[in-house]
Amino acid sequence: MPGGGDSPAVLRHIAIIMDGNGRWAKKRMLPRVEGHRAGMKAVRKTISAAGELGIEALTLYAFSSENWRRPANEVADLMGLLRFYLRRELAELDRNNVRLELLGDWRALDSDIVADLDAARSRLSGNSGLIVALALNYGGQDELVRAVRAIAADAKAGMLDPNAIDAAAIEQRLDTASLPPLDLIIRTSGEERLSNFLLWQSAYAELLFVDTLWPDFDRAALEGAIAAFGRRERRYGGR
Ligand code: IPE
Ligand code: IPE
Ligand code: MG
Repeated sequence: MPGGGDSPAVLRHIAIIMDGNGRWAKKRMLPRVEGHRAGMKAVRKTISAAGELGIEALTLYAFSSENWRRPANEVADLMGLLRFYLRRELAELDRNNVRLELLGDWRALDSDIVADLDAARSRLSGNSGLIVALALNYGGQDELVRAVRAIAADAKAGMLDPNAIDAAAIEQRLDTASLPPLDLIIRTSGEERLSNFLLWQSAYAELLFVDTLWPDFDRAALEGAIAAFGRRERRYGGR
């Protein structure tokens, strides 16, 4: 049995920290934006592979709440690529039966991007295949702060007894409330940290750090990650 445990490792939800675009470009003496552009192609390949491989949900860390610290021109390049991606890929995502979820404070992005995201989400809402969750202006601490505010507001309004607050009450107020439990986090580029990604949801997720730079990630890399996951034994504190 894969992993040798009592229950076979079922993989429903993969999240990816898509890192290494800048280093990919640097290796080729190209401007960083070319790394981000190449990273977009890897997104396309990974989404179609994940759908074909029967994964239920794929969460992609596209822009963190800390990425605003980058130089203004790089932030502008990333937002420009996001605009371009949403317009160019929407029909293809629809053909692939993809449903779109959005994580993070994405409503704080430029208003035209917010409108495109809203439109994309509603156009894809009737689909029944892979769920792609884009984490945009996402930070795990920010997500928890927003959840705590929502809980406090409900408690203040008398709709929630503070003694009844449990893990489920928190999970219902996270951006990931509608997604299946997180099974695997992949981070590319050799960095071994979470960088404020899915802090609550990663409690019992398997972590996989690969040296591949994000623009080089493809179907074979995803299959390799899925195979590595299959060799893990998940215990959840038991036995
Ligand atoms: C990931 O690549 C893309 C984003 C964070 C938006 P980086 O831009 O972080 O690439 P490196 O880490 O500098 O190589
Ligand atoms: C994490 O990568 C964020 C995304 C991939 C969107 P970073 O490149 O921003 O993370 P750090 O700064 O190396 O921790
Ligand atoms: Mg990076």
